[in-house]
Amino acid sequence: MAQEVRGVIAPGKDEPVRIETIVVPDPGPGEAVVRVQACGVCHTDLHYKQGGINDDFPFLLGHEAAGVVESVGDDVTDVAPGDFVILNWRAVCGTCRACLRGRPWYCFDTHNAEQKMTLTDGTELSPALGIGAFAEKTLVAAGQCTKVDPAVAPEVAGLLGCGVMAGIGAAINTGNVGRGDSVAVIGCGGVGDAAIAGSRLAGAARIIAVDIDDRKLETARSMGATHTVNSRTADPVEAIRDLTGGNGADVVIEAVGRPETYQQAFYARDLAGTVVLVGVPTPDMKIELPLLDVFGRGGSLKSSWYGDCLPSRDFPMLIDLHLQGRLDLGAFVTETIALDEVEKAFERMHRGDVLRSVVVL
Ligand code: APR
Ligand code: ZN
Ligand code: ZN
Repeated sequence: MAQEVRGVIAPGKDEPVRIETIVVPDPGPGEAVVRVQACGVCHTDLHYKQGGINDDFPFLLGHEAAGVVESVGDDVTDVAPGDFVILNWRAVCGTCRACLRGRPWYCFDTHNAEQKMTLTDGTELSPALGIGAFAEKTLVAAGQCTKVDPAVAPEVAGLLGCGVMAGIGAAINTGNVGRGDSVAVIGCGGVGDAAIAGSRLAGAARIIAVDIDDRKLETARSMGATHTVNSRTADPVEAIRDLTGGNGADVVIEAVGRPETYQQAFYARDLAGTVVLVGVPTPDMKIELPLLDVFGRGGSLKSSWYGDCLPSRDFPMLIDLHLQGRLDLGAFVTETIALDEVEKAFERMHRGDVLRSVVVL
């Protein structure tokens, strides 16, 4: 029996979001219906609302979520009703060439639920990032659900569904930050701060936070930055070199997504160092680099997609570290809000007032 629940819809380009009744079908083969307990408000939700991702309105927003599996369809064996899970954007296939090469985080054939959630008049909804979790219940592919220790607060768990995982993963998976390394993180929003927390977790000796906003640098310190640089008042490349014996950082993580910060990241790494690009640029952005600098500085230049995470490996591990007091995921939750406060949360996010507002249901 399909169910009717409340969800937050972006009806059209730049229109305010509103709560509507949505219809959630029973899970088909390989699908699960999840009772959402918490879902973070992310920039990507705002981009959907603004029409910046695609034009498939109406969207069912929300994608950083945790909740309890309510029901599963045929052929679902990995999760069962009652399991506490974190949702991820896409279930991996296990059989494409990336999966077969043992790199499922690059899977080229990921999937979401086959069936569609709808409005009561039958209009099909496009769930943000294949999730749509600003809703009391949502329908996903069972492979998008990862079981974790239910002792964690849902509003904390949900964060691993997107930005916080992207940042931590940029450090520990893509950057392979190791004990004693020097790390520079350019851009200290939620993603950059998570990269700082991930670098601390990995044992980095020196963590240099760079931002143009002193408020962000203060938060970065509480996440584990050992040094801060305001790049409005100081040249960040010079400052990073000065703080690393004139060399540059072993790993530089770019978490802004702009040409000038890509350029800074490129030049702030030590010889043979690693640059990790987690900030997402727009299609028009370009930088020019002398080839001799590309060749001569050696090392590697890597982009990090969703922190190159493997949810089944990384979500339970990071939740365990949080529960043991070794990683403070709670520090990313600025406020918890109700389902009807998403529009207000977008405004606060836009002003840079919050790391994360999290809807709790
Ligand atoms: N130099 C340094 N920092 C900058 C600059 C700059 N030129 N411009 C902006 N910033 C800082 C902002 O002050 C802010 O602290 O970058 C940070 C960006 O943070 P958020 O806007 O909160 O974005 P976040 O959610 O952290 O995502 C950052 O990562 O995954 C991607 O799509 C995401 O491209 C985005 C990036
Ligand atoms: Zn695959
Ligand atoms: Zn997100």
